[in-house]
Amino acid sequence: MTSVNAFSLIMVLVCVTQLVHSTSQDGDDYVREACNVTQYRDLCIHSLASFSNSAKRSPHRWARAAVSVTLSEAKRVTEYLTKMSKSGGMMGREGMALLDCVQCFEDTIDNLHDSLGELRRLVTETFDTQVNDVETWMSAALTDEETCLDGFSERKGRRVKALRNRVLNVTYATSNALAFVTNLAMIGAGNLTNPLRA
Ligand SMILES: *[C@@H]1O[C@H](CO)[C@@H](O)[C@H](O)[C@H]1NC(C)=O
Ligand SMILES: *[C@@H]1O[C@H](CO)[C@@H](O)[C@H](O)[C@H]1NC(C)=O
Ligand SMILES: *[C@@H]1O[C@H](CO)[C@@H](O)[C@H](O)[C@H]1NC(C)=O
Repeated sequence: MTSVNAFSLIMVLVCVTQLVHSTSQDGDDYVREACNVTQYRDLCIHSLASFSNSAKRSPHRWARAAVSVTLSEAKRVTEYLTKMSKSGGMMGREGMALLDCVQCFEDTIDNLHDSLGELRRLVTETFDTQVNDVETWMSAALTDEETCLDGFSERKGRRVKALRNRVLNVTYATSNALAFVTNLAMIGAGNLTNPLRA
């Protein structure tokens, strides 16, 4: 077994263990309920379980938590891509695709960062415009991540596979976060968490 595959396997085991573990904890019902709006529900429950007791049934808090976790993960993957690029880990067309990926991820981080800031400043009077902007930025973030993946669609090999998996994982987190934002938009300003208390 290659070291990358061994790593993936360990990550999967860690995730499964944490999933099983977290389901037995108090307050876990909130995250399971909240994650029902997402497409990648297991990842949602695993990565957002720690917000269960603070976010409870607040669509605003769940959206903020999901965007925040996605931003952290996107930053980690950007670091990984940058390191790989600087070490000359990929050459030729793959090296070019990798450079494009780093650029896409820098855009993604900007969009996620702006989204999180806007969600923190969310107020009733301008709710619709603000949430609409966040939806636009989150969609743009997702598009950038998919553009990164496109650059590797016809490439093969262990490194490419590892890279694709990490980037794919960010697209899932982004898709989930966008689902929370869309849900917040649907529910409307009536259920807004007071930003001063949030
Ligand atoms: C999530 O949705 C499923 C059906 O899609 C439902 O059976 C389940 O009770 C929901 N879970 C929570 C915690 O709301
Ligand atoms: C996938 O992303 C989540 C955050 O959304 C993170 O907690 C997890 O460690 C990532 N998994 C892998 C295998 O990169
Ligand atoms: C709105 O917020 C209240 C209290 O925070 C909660 O009980 C209720 O379920 C929320 N409504 C929706 C549609 O999320």
